[in-house]
Amino acid sequence: MLTGRHVVLGVTGSIAAYKAVGLLRRLTERGAQVTVVMTAAAKRFVTPLTFQALSRRPVYDDLFDPRDEILHLSLAQAADLFLIAPATANTLARLAAGSANDLLSSLALSARCPVLLAPAMDAVMWEHPLVQRNLDALRGIGVGIIPPESGPLASGLVGPGRLAAEDVILAAVEARLESSGPWVGAHVVVTAGPTREAIDAVRTITNRSSGKMGYALADAARVRGAMVTLITGPTDLPVPVGVDVVAVETAEEMRRAVLDRIDKTTILLMAAAVADYRPKVSSPGKLKKSGSAIAIELVPTPDILGEVAALRTETFVVGFAAETDRLVERAIEKLHRKQLDLIVANDVSRPGIGFGADDNEVTMIDRTGAVMPLPRLPKRVLADRILDHIHAIRLQERPSPPPST
Ligand code: CTP
Repeated sequence: MLTGRHVVLGVTGSIAAYKAVGLLRRLTERGAQVTVVMTAAAKRFVTPLTFQALSRRPVYDDLFDPRDEILHLSLAQAADLFLIAPATANTLARLAAGSANDLLSSLALSARCPVLLAPAMDAVMWEHPLVQRNLDALRGIGVGIIPPESGPLASGLVGPGRLAAEDVILAAVEARLESSGPWVGAHVVVTAGPTREAIDAVRTITNRSSGKMGYALADAARVRGAMVTLITGPTDLPVPVGVDVVAVETAEEMRRAVLDRIDKTTILLMAAAVADYRPKVSSPGKLKKSGSAIAIELVPTPDILGEVAALRTETFVVGFAAETDRLVERAIEKLHRKQLDLIVANDVSRPGIGFGADDNEVTMIDRTGAVMPLPRLPKRVLADRILDHIHAIRLQERPSPPPST
C-alpha cells in the first residue's frame, strides 16, 4: 500500500524515541521509502545508526549537512508525508511558533506535503494549557495530530501521554497518503533521456538529452500522488525517490517498456529523445579503423508514439517536440500525425534552454488547437506547469475528478 511513497520520519527527544524504530520497520515493510531526521535530543535516546541500518538510507540531523546545503528543502520536496513520532512538547512549541533553528523544524516549515505529529510526553505536560494551545495552532494550519494514549507513563503517573500505538500511527499515515494528492489512483509513465544505439561493442549513436525534463516530470507527478514509472535512457542524474525506475538503452527497449505498461497507463509523458535511426548492423566486437572513409547504414527505429496511437487506448498521451525552426507549425503537425492529446514543443536552437540545460522555454498545444506559450523556467517548475495544464484539460474532458485508471 505504501509502495513508492516517501515518508520522512522525524524523531525527537522523548523516552518513546525507541518506538520510532518499530514504526520505521513497519513503514518499510509496507513498501515506503523512509528517511529519518533526528533532533539533537533524540540522539541521546537512540543512535542514528539504528535508523540508518533499518531504513538503508542516510539519517539526517544537521541543518548544515555538508552533503546538501539546502537539505531541508530537498527533503521537503522529496517527501510525500512528514511524520514526527514521537513529538515532544518542545517540538510542538517550536513548530507552533514557526521556529526553524534545526533541520527538523526547518523541514516542517518547508514541507508542502501532509504533516502528521504523534505527541508523547508526561500527562501533566500534555494537559498543560500551553501544550494544548500549541496543538490547536498546529491543527489550525492543517497538521494532523495523532493523540497519545492513556496508560502508565515513565514518571509513574497513569494518564494521557503515551505515544499512540504503532497500528494507530500506521493507519493514520495510510489514510493521509491515500487521500493526498490530486493524482492519487493515476499511473503516470514518463520516458526520459536519450536512447543509445550500438555501432559496435564500444561505440554508439546517441544525442545530447540530459533527461532533466523527464525526471522533473516524474517527480512532479509523484508529488501529486500518482504511481509513477520512469523509463529512462542512460543519464547522469541521481535515481529519483518514490518512483519505479526502468533503465533502458535502445529505442526498442524503450518501446517494449512503454507498450508493456500501456494498458495500465493513465498518462504517458514521452519526454525521451528517442533515436530516430539505429545502425542496421551492430558489430559484436570493436570495429578496427582502416584509414579510409566508412559508411554506416542507418535504419529507422520504431516510432513509439505512433504505435501507442494505433492501440487507441484511453491513455492521455503527451509528446515532446524539439525543433529548430517553425516551432508551432511543426509541433501542430506532429500533434496530429502522432494523435497526441498534448504536445510540448521547445526551440533547441536557442542557447541556455532545452537539451542539457536546467531551464526550458516551451509552448504547449492541445487537440483543440489552443497554443499556450510559457516563459523560460527551471525544468522542475515547468514540470508543474505542464501537469497543471494536463489536469485542467482532463477536468474539462471528464467531469469527475481526473485522473483515474
Ligand atoms: N518519439 C517516439 N519514438 C521515436 C522517436 C520519437 O515515440 N522513435 C517521440 C518522442 O519521445 C517525442 C516525440 O516522439 O515525444 C517527437 O519526437 P521527434 O523525434 O521530434 O519527432 P519525429 O516525428 O521523429 O519528427 P522529426 O524528427 O522529423 O522532427
